[in-house]
Order: sequence, then structure tokens, then C-alpha cells
Amino acid sequence: MDITEAGYGIRTERSREIVERLERSIPGGNTRSLAFFPPYPLVISYGFGCRIRDADGNEFIDLLNNYTASVHGHALPAINEAMREQAALGTVFAAPGELQAELAERIVGRVASVEKVRFTNSGTEAVMMALRGARAFTGREKIIKAEGGYNGMWEQVPISRGQDPYRAAMPEGVRELVRMVDYNDVGQLEAAMEEEGDEVAAIILEPVTGTGVFAGTPEYFAAARRLADEHGALLICDEVITLRLGIGGFQEIMGVRPDLTTMGKIIGGGLPVGAFGGRADVMEVFDPRSPRHLHHSGTFNGNLMTMAAGCVTLDLLTQREIERINALGERLADGLRRLLAESQDLHGVVNNCGSLLHVNFGTGGEVRKYSDLNLDGPVGARFHLAALDEGVYFAPRGFMNTSTAMDEQTIDDALEACSRAMERVISHLGTTRSSVYSRHE
Ligand SMILES: Cc1ncc(COP(=O)(O)O)c(C=O)c1O
Repeated sequence: MDITEAGYGIRTERSREIVERLERSIPGGNTRSLAFFPPYPLVISYGFGCRIRDADGNEFIDLLNNYTASVHGHALPAINEAMREQAALGTVFAAPGELQAELAERIVGRVASVEKVRFTNSGTEAVMMALRGARAFTGREKIIKAEGGYNGMWEQVPISRGQDPYRAAMPEGVRELVRMVDYNDVGQLEAAMEEEGDEVAAIILEPVTGTGVFAGTPEYFAAARRLADEHGALLICDEVITLRLGIGGFQEIMGVRPDLTTMGKIIGGGLPVGAFGGRADVMEVFDPRSPRHLHHSGTFNGNLMTMAAGCVTLDLLTQREIERINALGERLADGLRRLLAESQDLHGVVNNCGSLLHVNFGTGGEVRKYSDLNLDGPVGARFHLAALDEGVYFAPRGFMNTSTAMDEQTIDDALEACSRAMERVISHLGTTRSSVYSRHE
């Protein structure tokens, strides 16, 4: 397969046919924006361990793992068995279930700041309900979030400064409730809290950003904790992605105790899930025994399939396994850095925190904050297509993560494939340098 877009159909005919079929009933053939990339995404038919196969039978090492959710890879027999057992008993009832206690106790047992927890069906809903809870508890409306930080699709969190498409879809009154600060910038957070702190219900921050994989500094989170306390606001850690980095999430590693934590991805064992939890007195606003409680419903909240899969997943995600996948992430990041250093022609930076990493091409310098990222550049897009052709699957924007289904050999195989992909990008740039650079750089 050539890595130009025109050549991308050669071994992916069946994917293209299925995408064309999807396009007839779904706009752009796409029901998950992040899963799209031009000219058309591959249709993945099945996964087993750390590998996935597309509709044409091409096989890939999966370095995306459904954006970190499939922390044990795919189709793990123990998780399948738990789901099979539960499916035979019924999937969900409009009633409490004992398995909800099982998963809740595991989460409360792992994350020190989480005294009480509630389940949702996605991280988006978890963030929405955590913020709503914070507003109810504090009696305030404003929230502070990090510029470029991703906290799900709820209209009050996916906004950035400047003109992006989200802004047009968002009422002015909603925008005024959200203030953005640069991630890891203590001064900006201090200034924001100085100006508006007494109206702020919550500061919500990812301990490590999913976009760009910037790790929060302990000083930044300590400042966020102090400022929230000084102004009577709550601190929310969005650990939807980062819970996989340590038994107690990345908050434990950083030594910060948030008031609320939002979770998702790994706690559902591959099924739809979200959860939010934290201080018992804050979570009390949701206690239905109180006449003034905050309503939080969802037809599939705490469904037993997710609870069953989640329990097995957390049981298997031991401290040892977390350390192992974090080391595999470091090995992958180091290897990619070495490949980039050896290459004269490709300029890329690899950010990494344990099992999470992000490869960013084309900015030329350090990548320390969101505005340093070059997320939609031509070189990254070509590397992505070339890597697919060499049998490695990761996010079009360069995000990758490791799973417990991998070992060192998997990482070395992925690195060899990435090395070949880089050579192809370089030779492609050599032949099209003038047009690529004149159009994009
Ligand atoms: C930090 C963070 N918060 C919230 C979400 C939203 O989770 P979901 O996609 O389950 O709605 C995500 C999703 O990637 C995330 O990374």
C-alpha cells in the first residue's frame, strides 16, 4: 500500500465497502468522531489479546486499546466468562444489584479519596454529574478547566479559547460559566481564582492529559488543592484515562486528594461505563432518601454486565501488572525517541507517562503545553497511515498506550514496524517535499 491517501484502498477494499454502506445511513459513516481519519478508517472485525484484525484480514498490534479502556487487550477469557455468566442471568434490571457493591467496593478500596461512588454509562456522564454535584454542594455555577484538556462531550467541558466548532454550538450563557487556564501554569490558576474564585464550584483537571500526555506537576495540583480550599470550591480529578497508571490513580502518585474523581474506561472491562465519587458529604447530595436530593438516573447505570466485567478487570490489574505496562510504555517511548533521534529528516517529540504516550511531529521544539502540539500536521497523518500499513494501530493524532496483553517482544515488534513506517514517510517526503512543505509549513 502506498501511504498517499489515493493508495490507501489497495488492501482495504472490504473496509471501504463497509464504510460506504455506513455512509448511506450515518453521516460520514461515522458515529464516533475520534474514530474517523481520511480517506476512510479501517473496519475492525475482531480482537484477541494485543492484536486486532480488520475486515480484509490485515492484522495489527493494537496500541490504542479503545483509547485506554481495554487495559487487558481484547477478548480475555476471564472477562468473557464473567460476562457470559451474567448474560445468562439477565443483563440489567431497574433495581440495585449486588455486583454494584462488588465494583463500588473495589473502587473505594483502591482510590483513597473516593468514599462513595455512583455509576454512569460513560466518562462524559460521570463528568457531567460530578460537576452538577459540585454546583449543588457549593451553590455556585462557575467551573475552571484546562485549555485543551478533554473531559468528555458534555457541552460545558469540550471548549477551548479561540474559534472552534464547539463554541458555535454552545450558548453564550454556558460559555460564561467556564473559565480556561493553561495546564500546569500555577500563576494562571492563582489569577483565575483571585478574580472569580468565590463564584467557582469546581476546578476540574486531568492528572495527565489524554491529549498530548502532559503529566501534571505535583506543585500544580498542590496549588489547585490549596486554591480550591481557600475559595470554598471543589477540586475534581478527571481520572477517566489515568486510573490505569496506579492502583489509586495518578492522584495517589502525585499526592493530591481531590474532593471528587471521575472515572471510566478500565473500570468497565470493555463495556460502556463511567463513575464519579469522592467525599461522602459531597456525594450525599445524590442520596435519594433526602427530600432535596439531586436526581441522577440512567436506564443502564450500574448494569450488571458492566459490573461483572469491571470487577474481573480490576482484580487482574494488580500493582505488578500496572508496573509492567508502565514499563512497556517507557520501552515504547524510549524506542520511538531513539528512532526519531537516528532519523535526520523526521522531527518528532514523544511525551510519555507510564503506559500512556503521544508522538508529535513537526513542531521542531519541546512539547510542554497544549499550544505546542501539532495535532493535525501532514507528517503525523502520513506516519499513521504508514504504521497501519506496517501492522501497528494507534490514534491518528499519535496517541498510544500499552496493555497487559503485551510483552517486551510485542513492543520491539511494534518499534520495528514504526521504524519501517518512518522510513516510508521520509522517502515519501523526499519525493513530495516541495508540495508537502509549501502546503502545510
Ligand atoms: C479525561 C477524560 N474525561 C472524560 C472522557 C469521556 O469519557 P467517555 O468517552 O466514556 O464519555 C474521556 C474520554 O476519553 C477522557 O479522556
